Amino acid sequence: LGVPSLRSALLDWYQHHSRDLPWRHTRDPYAIWVSEIMLQQTQVATVLPYYHRWLDHLPTIQALAGAELDTVLKLWQGLGYYARARYLHCAAQQIMSEHQGQFPQNYAAVAALPGIGRSTAGAILSAAFDQAHPILDGNVKRVLSRLFALSIPPKQAETQLWVWSAQLLCPQQPRNFNQAIMDLGATICTPRQPLCHACPWQNHCRAHRYGLTQDIPRKMTS
Ligand code: ADE
Repeated sequence: LGVPSLRSALLDWYQHHSRDLPWRHTRDPYAIWVSEIMLQQTQVATVLPYYHRWLDHLPTIQALAGAELDTVLKLWQGLGYYARARYLHCAAQQIMSEHQGQFPQNYAAVAALPGIGRSTAGAILSAAFDQAHPILDGNVKRVLSRLFALSIPPKQAETQLWVWSAQLLCPQQPRNFNQAIMDLGATICTPRQPLCHACPWQNHCRAHRYGLTQDIPRKMTS
């Protein structure tokens, strides 16, 4: 079965089953950036109150750039991995000095900001500006590993996984596609006991066809 039917099955499913998350009601790249950094290592439910409080206190790039590091770290307190808060603060100052206070819309410029890797850059640019950049976070790696019955650990197949993410990405609806594949990984294609009966890709999924969902993604053997 082809790429177009994979895309439309996922996008149709997402229309009815998307999670209602606050960063999906905005196109403000700053708010979306903050959400993506918080979500890098923290669950959605934990992030929600922090996200709202952060934007109440630091509603703009200018506000963040001008805030004391102390204030920034206090707003982060409890989220862990404090380097993320320092990177946000530092990147906001960089955006003030190098981009006239406007969040950049160019992929290379976004990926050059501290704390933003390839996947986060794609997530921000697709969500904020509907640009067609692929993403590859932990959830997406698991979904794609199962869809294609990847026989080696995802860490050893990053290049292949990026190619798949880019090939599947719907060029007409990159924002919805990327949010949808994240939701699929978070709510259906879960690490243990995935809900294959409810999956829009059930009939496309090689792991499901071969009875391998429990064994994929493969674990690293050291
Ligand atoms: N995890 C990382 N980015 C996310 C997003 N935009 N929505 C839900 N979960 C996410």
